Amino acid sequence: MQHRDRRWLMRRWADLLRANREDLAALCTLELGKPYTESLVSVQYATDFLDWFEGAIERTFGDTIPAARRENRVSTIRQPQGVVAAITPWNSPLAMITRKAGAAIAAGNSVVCKPAPETPLCALALAKLFERAGGPPGVLNVIPCSTENTAAVGEEVCSNTLVKHLSFTGSTAVGKSLNVACARSMKRISMELGGNAPFIVFDDADLEEAAKGLVTSKFRSSGQTCVCANRILVHAAVFDKFGELLKKTVNSTFVYGSVWDQAVNFGPLYSSKGMSKAISHLEDAVSKGGILLTKDLVARELGPNFLRPAIVKAATNSHLMTFTEEETFGPIAFMIPFNTEEEAIKIANQSNLGLAAYFYTESISRLWRVAEALNVGMVGARVGLVSAAEMPFGGIMESGMGREGGMEALHEFLEIKSITVGL
Ligand code: SIN
Repeated sequence: MQHRDRRWLMRRWADLLRANREDLAALCTLELGKPYTESLVSVQYATDFLDWFEGAIERTFGDTIPAARRENRVSTIRQPQGVVAAITPWNSPLAMITRKAGAAIAAGNSVVCKPAPETPLCALALAKLFERAGGPPGVLNVIPCSTENTAAVGEEVCSNTLVKHLSFTGSTAVGKSLNVACARSMKRISMELGGNAPFIVFDDADLEEAAKGLVTSKFRSSGQTCVCANRILVHAAVFDKFGELLKKTVNSTFVYGSVWDQAVNFGPLYSSKGMSKAISHLEDAVSKGGILLTKDLVARELGPNFLRPAIVKAATNSHLMTFTEEETFGPIAFMIPFNTEEEAIKIANQSNLGLAAYFYTESISRLWRVAEALNVGMVGARVGLVSAAEMPFGGIMESGMGREGGMEALHEFLEIKSITVGL
């Protein structure tokens, strides 16, 4: 298909997502237990990627480069890679597919997608809509598989030489083993792995805005995204005040109840395993001196894995607490005090994960200084939500490599070929 044809395909696919938004949201709620209102936002987020790639695909092209030798002409073209494999996670079962498959197909590749065993229906629904949009047979293929078969499918994807690129979103541990396996056939890889995002509140911040930003960053999807804030660094001068403000903002923001009730905007954790991990981080922090500011956290009447938002002041020994080492993936806001900008940056950068970081300040010079100093792939300065189709999404160090979203997403799935012509 030519660029223009792929562009119209993206548009028809996106239009079908819009036309079926309620059904897609219902599937997402059924598979994940996410409140229906949040699922509607997820459908919109998934659609945004297709809209963005539709607009961008005709703007991917090569360069003409001045040649050192007078008799030569040098130019580049960008060509599709072939078969792209996409392994996608359960926590964002629609957008992670449109973000990967949308970009790869817009760039002219075909895709084999293995969705998480927990959320096959969202993936199959997207593939059905792709077919209805006129997507050619074999261009988007979904292989749902059980947890038991996941390793075997992963092995096939990594070893099959027809697959030219593996795009994976998931844990750092799994990402590392897929990376090693792909190295055997020198596949291109893009990996969006774990995070442990710092969220810094400086003493010159607008504290109300910072509390609102933190509520979005920390508690979106009940804390189950890899870009959720995990280590909340608050200047000592505003530490107690911010804790109280955060508690007030949480209380006035969230409504609990049936996930189908459209007023409800906070849901349960996905699994009992996730629930145990979040509770173990909480208990660990409290056993090491952390002070819990919120009550009645476990709400079994709302479901077996329902954990209300928690706020913990981890004032002493916070560096010894588990949450500083591992992402919690649950709705617990751990606050750590600091005294200087240098100290905040040092603590923020004390991690081998470098996905996202957030901070609030009213000082323009501090804003640039801190944004440049943070060792991450994405910075939110005075915002609690960075995820958007136009933004190159991805991390550094053990948070992965490659970018999804923005022009970088299309370039990720295109090879540059240099052509030198002698006159
Ligand atoms: C993720 O958790 O993997 C992605 C979330 C996002 O795109 O905001």
